[in-house]
Amino acid sequence: MRSDGVVFASPVYSFQVSGHMKAFLDRLGFAFHRPRFHGKAWTSIVVEGLYGGRDVGKYLDFVGGALGFSVARGSRIVCRKNPDTAQEPMLDKERRKMDEVLARHSRRFHDQLKSPRFPEPTMLQLFGFRMARTSIKLELADDRPDHAYYSDHGWFDSDYFYPTKLGLLKRAAGAAFDRMAARSSKPREHHRAER
Ligand SMILES: Cc1cc2nc3c(=O)[nH]c(=O)nc-3n(C[C@H](O)[C@H](O)[C@H](O)COP(=O)(O)O)c2cc1C
Repeated sequence: MRSDGVVFASPVYSFQVSGHMKAFLDRLGFAFHRPRFHGKAWTSIVVEGLYGGRDVGKYLDFVGGALGFSVARGSRIVCRKNPDTAQEPMLDKERRKMDEVLARHSRRFHDQLKSPRFPEPTMLQLFGFRMARTSIKLELADDRPDHAYYSDHGWFDSDYFYPTKLGLLKRAAGAAFDRMAARSSKPREHHRAER
């Protein structure tokens, strides 16, 4: 919480992040419902032997966005080891490539750290926020943690997670997303009747 930016790094194990990283992300799972890292930068590094790193990198960067971070696209390092000993040092060619990839990546992350902390949301981000906040407002009782969190942050009345100036198109789209979410929500009375 005290950092301006974070780097999440993991080897690729069985086409996924490592078990340790997954356990850590699961521990943070509540923050997908109650995001808290807006205004902070995220990036990721995955290290693969052969295959799967691209998807794992996409997964990690998606996780960063879902937690509220501004994401600087991560990088993928290839490190082929001797399959028998798993102890060969990296090949020179791989090391050179890694240095290049990480030099470009450092610049991306630096640019992200220097860019405005609270940019205008993309249409997709706006959609996600409005759908979530409207369904939480209509579906959950006031004392449920997600409802209380959104209410405490003023998110039932705000344009987005943080103060931002929306253009005309996004204002209209935001209102339409709220209406869409209201139509597809099950009102609280419905839940009570089901119990
Ligand atoms: C249990 C295990 C599963 C792995 N699965 C994959 C995989 O699915 N795809 C891949 O490209 N490399 C895979 N690897 C190779 C590692 O991603 C690669 O060797 C990496 O450099 C390991 O980092 P580490 O030395 O920090 O564990 C696997 C390695 C281990 C030990």
